[in-house]
Amino acid sequence: MTEPIRFLLVDDTVDNLVALGALLRRDGLELLVARSGAEALELLLLHDVSLALLDVQMPQMDGFELAELMRGARRTRQVPIIFLTAGDREPARVFAGYESGAVDFLFKPIDPRILKSKVDVFFELACQRRELSAALKINERFVGILGHDLRNPLGAVLAGAELLRGQLADEGQLLTLRRMTSAGRRMSEMIEQLLDLTRARLVGGLYLTRTQLDVAELVQRAVDELRATNPHRELVTAVEGDCATWGDPARLLQLFSNLVGNALQHGTRGTPITLGITGRDREIVIRIRNGGSIPAELVPSIFEPFRGRTAKQASGPGLGLGLFISREIAAAHDGDLGAVSSATTGTEFTVRLPRRRDAHDRSTGELRVP
Ligand SMILES: Nc1ncnc2c1ncn2[C@@H]1O[C@H](COP(=O)(O)OP(=O)(O)OP(=O)(O)O)[C@@H](O)[C@H]1O
Ligand SMILES: [Mg+2]
Repeated sequence: MTEPIRFLLVDDTVDNLVALGALLRRDGLELLVARSGAEALELLLLHDVSLALLDVQMPQMDGFELAELMRGARRTRQVPIIFLTAGDREPARVFAGYESGAVDFLFKPIDPRILKSKVDVFFELACQRRELSAALKINERFVGILGHDLRNPLGAVLAGAELLRGQLADEGQLLTLRRMTSAGRRMSEMIEQLLDLTRARLVGGLYLTRTQLDVAELVQRAVDELRATNPHRELVTAVEGDCATWGDPARLLQLFSNLVGNALQHGTRGTPITLGITGRDREIVIRIRNGGSIPAELVPSIFEPFRGRTAKQASGPGLGLGLFISREIAAAHDGDLGAVSSATTGTEFTVRLPRRRDAHDRSTGELRVP
């Protein structure tokens, strides 16, 4: 059974609550009623609400104060609010939380038709939002299943190509085969990315298998692998300090390959790519810099899946998932990934990983060395 949509009614006068309740009642809607700000806050801790109707004049905590508290908490920040106010009989007060969500006023005596039509809009919106989020979940699950089931046939194609390689002697045929293999590998990478997206979104994060490792070695391995396919590009690495920690080597290699791959793919050709790996007492910092900048309008969305690409790139080879997954990998290690980009200095991505003394050490997760 689907959960009802919930609206919150707050008024210190019971008669008003009863009248409002009678007016708004409908199938699929649960009305939560509170007679004070404190009661309302308790209900908000337990339930997600799609609209709050707040009486402004209440003893102790008035409607504005309650609304300000709601705007201060992440969970309730976006809840639309309709204030029920005595209007000109009250001193004009400024409500400080306008920017963060929808706010409306209704003046007493309240016209039931106006109230009903406003509330209808919010009910309709809440229903649509719920349908959209359900559709999105189904979509992501579908992508996950599809990605998973594509892996086996593609594996067979790649294995077949490998087998043929030993049997063909004609240079032209071998060239075709190499192209097929590299397209197949790229496809397999894309499938893995889609699976990582579903893992991160639906299962609630990437699963790590931690062992002791050396971050500088992993970065170097990513660089060496990519250098093999980009022999003419200049990649300069500098390591400083001790870079040993605990983490998932396969995931970290994936993170560094994504970033170095991006620098090669999106950076300006002809300018070197520089990598700095610095092991500090409490964290290990990896900086990857390349020439060329990310268009300013893309910067806010580069870490979002399928976004952060220009219209031209959207038809290109990538899915636009690399940075999203990279940030998830950094977060799963209690670290982070950020970027700065400007036309004059180029683009720099920075990974920060807290240093772990053993597989279970989480004590350094919050600490940052200036
Ligand atoms: N080092 C970089 N220099 C310049 N632009 C970059 C750099 N890294 C990322 N970008 C920009 O950010 C966008 C998103 O990067 P992301 O790695 O998520 O996707 P992608 O590289 O397009 O595709 P893929 O899913 O194959 O990684 C890129 O399309 C590019 O516009
Ligand atoms: Mg990429």
